[in-house]
Amino acid sequence: MYVRITQLKTVAEFRDYVRLLGVDIPIDDEVIPAPSGPLAQPYKLRDGRTIGNRFCVQPMEGWDCSIDGRPTDPVYRRWRKFGRSGAKLIWGGEAAAVRPDGRANPNQLMVLDYTMRDLEELRSTLIKEHIEHFGSSDDLLVGLQLTHSGRFSRPNDKVKLEPKIVYHHPLLDSMFGIPREHPVMTDGEVDGLVEDYVRAAKRAYHVGFDFVDVKHCHGYLGHEFLSAVTRPGRYGGSLENRTRFMREIVEGIRSECPGLLIGVRFSAFDTPPFRPGGDGVGYMLDYRDENGNYNYAFGGDPGGPGEVKPDEPLALMEMMADMGVELVNFSAGSPYYNPHIIRPAWYPPSDGYLPPEDPLVGVARHIQVAAGLKAAAPDMLCVGSGYSYLQEWIPNVAQAVVGSGMIDFAGLGRSTLSYPELPADALAGRPLDRARICRTFSDCTTAPRLGLASGCYPLDDYYRSSPEAKELRRLKKS
Ligand SMILES: Cc1cc2nc3c(=O)[nH]c(=O)nc-3n(C[C@H](O)[C@H](O)[C@H](O)COP(=O)(O)O)c2cc1C
Ligand code: SF4
Repeated sequence: MYVRITQLKTVAEFRDYVRLLGVDIPIDDEVIPAPSGPLAQPYKLRDGRTIGNRFCVQPMEGWDCSIDGRPTDPVYRRWRKFGRSGAKLIWGGEAAAVRPDGRANPNQLMVLDYTMRDLEELRSTLIKEHIEHFGSSDDLLVGLQLTHSGRFSRPNDKVKLEPKIVYHHPLLDSMFGIPREHPVMTDGEVDGLVEDYVRAAKRAYHVGFDFVDVKHCHGYLGHEFLSAVTRPGRYGGSLENRTRFMREIVEGIRSECPGLLIGVRFSAFDTPPFRPGGDGVGYMLDYRDENGNYNYAFGGDPGGPGEVKPDEPLALMEMMADMGVELVNFSAGSPYYNPHIIRPAWYPPSDGYLPPEDPLVGVARHIQVAAGLKAAAPDMLCVGSGYSYLQEWIPNVAQAVVGSGMIDFAGLGRSTLSYPELPADALAGRPLDRARICRTFSDCTTAPRLGLASGCYPLDDYYRSSPEAKELRRLKKS
């Protein structure tokens, strides 16, 4: 039986338990506040700009835009939270679709000509909130995450997949009901999509975002290209070809948007899909090709499914450096087929399974893989993911990891939904507000899986007291 984080009352207990698990998570005894603490140190970009500290807010979508892709009140509210978090790097805000058919849900944000004013307003709302709380936004860097949801597109109906696939996947096709005859995107269609990304980046640039993230994570289209080993033609097969989609977008953005920084968030490791077994615990599906390999997990070991093999991610880092990508954000896996990999959690989402490993093992994997990639790319700004499960120990671990140079920024996802001010409190040396620490209940994922907007229903009054909270309780029971 795993031990809950709340049972680990001291740093010594945390260390002992992590040792018992046989993994490595560095942790500092004391968190040193600003201005001398490692998390308070500025990061200097190549163009001379400065990012004021080492906390990053990860992109967090809410399934809550209007159906024409415009932000609604809850979206503005979420971006205000990001602004007052105290983090000085806002990685992308939330996934924003570069065209309507690439939305992950009908309520996803879109980056189109007619939404430019809204995006400008969203960005300035965040910045205004940041200035109100911290006096200045001179050392704040704000990006927009550009996405096409590919295999997981649901542009018109929350529960109806309208997949755009780049190859037929031996396991995901049957898991998500994609028939053999479902068309694969042609090279010509991919060329058109590259243009959509560049157009979207231009829009983001014009409304003032500092960078765009050419998203390559979580099973969405960009990520699927990275494992398109069986795809014939220019966009599949060799790593060179599988990264052509990224390269063409990055080249297009560089020539059309001088001065716009480019980031890539990618899944740095992956596994075959997991499913709940009879006891509810997740187990990994098995599939081997004629050579006994599983080649569909980018960053995974083909001969040892579930194991990490960073050769290709390391090569990708080198390629990205050559392309002029300066910002990298390491994530992992996909929320649709191995949620415990991307988001270590105590409680599974409704479409998930009980954790097949102690969630701290997942946290350690995030930290160690990210550190290995960072070591190979000292000149790139690198953000790590998967910290929310650490709960009260987030600042101690973040400080140890950043302070020892294993990563440049600690990225916070779910914890920003329940307790956005955690970075500000840690930097100021204030005790954490324990009642608002994310306990990884997963309702922010369960709600959208059941057709509702995302949000922290257990801990954020705005959602706790909403009619949707009642509906969520009813749906969870049924
Ligand atoms: C409700 C919800 C929405 C998310 N939306 C996005 C998104 O739009 N883009 C993205 O790259 N990751 C998204 N993620 C993943 C998070 O950015 C983050 O990688 C993940 O939650 C693990 O980090 P954590 O342990 O700090 O939560 C989302 C996660 C959740 C729970
Ligand atoms: S619903 Fe709230 S407590 Fe639960 S995982 Fe999401 S942010 Fe954390």
